[in-house]
Amino acid sequence: MTTLTINGTIHEVNAPDDMPLLWVLRDLVGLTGTKFGCGIAQCGACTVHLDGAAVRSCVLPVAAVVGKKITTIEAVGETPAGRKVQEAWRTLDVVQCGYCQSGQVMSAASLLATNPNPSDADIDTAMSGNICRCGTYNRIRAAIKHAAKEA
Ligand code: FES
Ligand code: FES
Repeated sequence: MTTLTINGTIHEVNAPDDMPLLWVLRDLVGLTGTKFGCGIAQCGACTVHLDGAAVRSCVLPVAAVVGKKITTIEAVGETPAGRKVQEAWRTLDVVQCGYCQSGQVMSAASLLATNPNPSDADIDTAMSGNICRCGTYNRIRAAIKHAAKEA
């Protein structure tokens, strides 16, 4: 058994060491808010926080996250930055189909937690690994600025 701390709760999971965290979250723990897109760290749909940093859970073996604090979209709203990001997302109506948006919110929340007043360049760097096929990029950038202003 592997012991994980997910969203502040201890979970015992029966997973092989090399199982990607994404599948542990979705299939073993039942947290399906984190999405599968590419499986090769190229799209950002699977982004979660590891000790507050945005990481791609599709390429992260579960053995590498033991002892770390894992936060998913289901609980990021309980952090100050995550709450502001989600409020801004709603205010600016960012979401289109929604598939990429868990990952977008997770990356934005991690950015604002460490950089409360990001420049356009900071936003571009932090969000460059999160692809949106609906092209919501302009609203995402506006919402990050809105969240920064509100914080
Ligand atoms: S599913 Fe992980 S980056 Fe695309
Ligand atoms: S909102 Fe549809 S992929 Fe981003």
